[in-house]
Amino acid sequence: MILVTGGAGFIGSNFVLDWLAQHDESIVNLDKLTYAGNLENLRSLEGEARHIFVHGDIGDSTLVSRLLAEHQPRAVLNFAAESHVDRSILGPGAFIETNVVGTLNLLEAVRAHWSALPADGQAAFRFLHVSTDEVYGTLGPGDPAFAETHRYEPNSPYSASKAASDHLVRAWHHTYGLPVLTTNCSNNYGPFHFPEKLIPLIIVNALAGQPLPVYGDGQQIRDWLYVKDHCSAIRRVLEAGTVGDTYNVGGWNEKANIDIVRGVCALLDELRPRADGKPYAAQITFVKDRPGHDRRYAIDARKLEKELGWKPAETFETGIRKTVEWYLTNPEWVEHVQSGAYREWLGQQYGHRQAQKESTKA
Ligand code: NAD
Ligand code: DAU
Repeated sequence: MILVTGGAGFIGSNFVLDWLAQHDESIVNLDKLTYAGNLENLRSLEGEARHIFVHGDIGDSTLVSRLLAEHQPRAVLNFAAESHVDRSILGPGAFIETNVVGTLNLLEAVRAHWSALPADGQAAFRFLHVSTDEVYGTLGPGDPAFAETHRYEPNSPYSASKAASDHLVRAWHHTYGLPVLTTNCSNNYGPFHFPEKLIPLIIVNALAGQPLPVYGDGQQIRDWLYVKDHCSAIRRVLEAGTVGDTYNVGGWNEKANIDIVRGVCALLDELRPRADGKPYAAQITFVKDRPGHDRRYAIDARKLEKELGWKPAETFETGIRKTVEWYLTNPEWVEHVQSGAYREWLGQQYGHRQAQKESTKA
């Protein structure tokens, strides 16, 4: 038995589905079901006895303590977080509440449980914290990719809150001996990705005939990894990672945002051409930049590759095709997540952003 938090979100739900497809071991899935949590992601598990869903908050120590005592998991994997940088700029409080205070409360409940285990149970137990490359800050064009030894230089309320949580996890190991592992991953994409993030937003807006908003000059670089490769990395770190260590996870796929957007448009032109025969790229609209926008992320994943033998299964080309095909075959999932609350967010986020330049280039 393992306990997963945030298992109804994008990465967490992919992790739960992959885990149960590959293991006999059960999962207790604790999720608060914020706007980003969606039980439809887990619909294929209906009637699956190995999946126990619990609606609740990682900050609720009483609930977490009860779950630990009742299910005696051998590991806790913490995916739960507020995860969207733009939301953290408009409202940082929720990020501190869940990512910092929530992680603190979770760590304390886990520590109390772990301290009372017999010696062999303590030795086998793991707390795996899922974190991000954004804690390392931003890179210049010629800088080497982030290694695990790169100093922490978070620039957004989101990345600062994740950095704080990483520090708490580290301290709980060094001070109390809690057997922790931390993973710092680059940008994920794939099925069940909430359409506030770049790739799903572009697919969904393109199909709806809406503008495709590109921040600033579109030359910011992200390092993209197919979500199922992130899940396989987490499974490998849980299985064989050195306690107290951190592991960078990335796909060696650095791409400028504008190239991502044009690539998605080209795939849609092939798979679902526009009725008027025009290219989807005609919908690209350059808008006001994100405040404090990090220019470049790149992950050096050699430690994970060399020490634990992990390799991604997908290239960017295979992964992005699978992703676009998934959105084309799951329009009802998109319709359902586009609730009233989501439409309000779009108004708040993009309403004030003036279109700076319309591109009609393919
Ligand atoms: P997400 O926003 O899609 O999902 C977050 C999930 O956590 C949701 O199901 C939500 O309901 C749940 N949650 C939020 N607050 C909670 C709380 N207080 N208690 C319990 N559940 C709560 O996020 P994601 O993209 O799946 O990211 C998962 C984790 O991976 C996060 O920790 C994020 O920082 C990290 N990460 C994400 C990416 C990425 O590209 N998406 C990359 C690297 C690391
Ligand atoms: O690097 C890992 C991080 O990747 C995770 O820790 C975060 O949880 C995850 O949300 C993601 O953060 P980003 O800010 O990189 O992802 P997002 O999809 O929001 O943006 C990707 C890039 O695209 C970024 O440079 C901003 C830009 N962008 C984004 C949106 C939503 C646009 O140009 N237009 C948009 O409308």
